[in-house]
Amino acid sequence: MPKWLKDAVFYEIYPQSFKDSNGDGIGDFNGIIEKLDYIKDLGCNAIWMNPCYDSPFRDAGYDVRDYKKTAARYGSNEDLIRLFAEVHKRDMHILLDLVPGHTSEEHEWFQASSKPEPNEYSDRYVWTDDWFHAPEGFNYVAGESLRNGIYILNFFKCQPALNYGFLKPEKSWQKGLDDPACVATKEALKDVMRFWLDAGCDGFRVDMADSLVKKDDEKKSGTAMIWKDIRKMLDESYPEAALVSEWNRPELAIPAGFHMDFNLDWVGNAYNLLMRDVQDGRNNSIFHKDSDRSILDFFGEYLEKYEVIKEQGHYCLITGNHDTIRASYYLDVSELKLAYAFLLTMPGNPFIYYGDEIGMRYRELASKEGGYTRTGSRTPMQWDDSVNCGFSTAAAADLYLPVDGSEDAPTVAGQEKDKDSLLNTVKAVLALRNSEDDLKENANLKLVYARKEDRGFAYRRGNLLLLCNPSGKEVVIEAKDLPAGTEKRFEIGKTECQTGKYVLGAQSFGIYAC
Ligand code: GLC
Ligand code: CA
Repeated sequence: MPKWLKDAVFYEIYPQSFKDSNGDGIGDFNGIIEKLDYIKDLGCNAIWMNPCYDSPFRDAGYDVRDYKKTAARYGSNEDLIRLFAEVHKRDMHILLDLVPGHTSEEHEWFQASSKPEPNEYSDRYVWTDDWFHAPEGFNYVAGESLRNGIYILNFFKCQPALNYGFLKPEKSWQKGLDDPACVATKEALKDVMRFWLDAGCDGFRVDMADSLVKKDDEKKSGTAMIWKDIRKMLDESYPEAALVSEWNRPELAIPAGFHMDFNLDWVGNAYNLLMRDVQDGRNNSIFHKDSDRSILDFFGEYLEKYEVIKEQGHYCLITGNHDTIRASYYLDVSELKLAYAFLLTMPGNPFIYYGDEIGMRYRELASKEGGYTRTGSRTPMQWDDSVNCGFSTAAAADLYLPVDGSEDAPTVAGQEKDKDSLLNTVKAVLALRNSEDDLKENANLKLVYARKEDRGFAYRRGNLLLLCNPSGKEVVIEAKDLPAGTEKRFEIGKTECQTGKYVLGAQSFGIYAC
């Protein structure tokens, strides 16, 4: 486990929308450099940046055309390397986004692979061996290349699947994991990783990490074999490089070699119930003031997974990401404060999606770069009340996406001045987290009190006791074995913590030494 993960708190940057330094309307590396002090001051000491490689941008850069070259719109490779150096100068770390399952159809490997003449890249992607018979159970493209075959997709139509082989090849065109062509794909991926690690990045967030081996790999043992081999390379040559998976099955991802796995937002799963549970117009999210949901609906599923992997890796909670609707769409500021206080005091490494710390709003916008409904969560960061909210000096029509033009659009500058703002609440919680070993990645979580019929709950992190009441009514928790808090370290609303009795005011959160 890389040492720096012990106290890493991540900030996710969607580079298009964070800060434009040269007035062309789109965010860039130099803009990020300008804002590193802001991120550090917020209490985050690590960054995950979405893909920044050369791409036709049909999926916002998750369609990579050249893994080793940055997209000109963000800056050059040298600019990115300077960003790494500036990050490290501030004792921070940065993860790039690694897209291992597919490339853009414009990648030169795919161009070569599509040729009828056999060549080094013919089997770099998954192709059938004739143009006519559709491969059952796969998304595919037929009839577009000179090659006599059909190719398999990994996600969008622009994203042909790289070939890592099949666990149990059945058809003539399916190769085994140890086929030289499939081994070559894996080695090419390692080569890309070494390229950026040598340039100074600190590891990777891995896109669709479970997608390498197709079909008949339900238990993911084939995909895990590949990651274990990659992890071996890291352990041997880059022991401080970190890997976090987009997988949401930590019980598989951590043994497969990842240091961390995300708890993702999947409709109806436990994480989704925290902030985004809206059905038939009724908001029944755990952190919604008027819901009737108990935190047990979250902890049941979460703890089961956490307990399995807690000694080996981290199960990471996020405020949101570039694929989710921002939580502010469902919760107001007073609700968000409690939700974030909870997320940021849990084990593992928390991730804050840019703009969530000020409650930036989700808006329904026309799709941009394959974003569809995700587009509204990808709008320019709102820094201040200057032109384009301080994101860019470009004409409004030239911006990557329109900024939030509403009168009361939240901004960093506005919230810095207000001691009760969401931003300052996040800062206060992170300042505490960063000063208390018990609140860091430590696997020291214990649920002290939670009931199906009760909205108030209490949990422990080592010697700290944390109390929360997301509801709009006072909650009194009484039980003989409840320990008293000795010293109050943090509070939202009003809490009391005596032996056998906790009184939690409406929408309150308290942290006590205990
Ligand atoms: C992941 C990314 C998402 C992308 C997809 C295909 O889910 O987070 O943004 O569209 O993979 O690469
Ligand atoms: Ca720019």
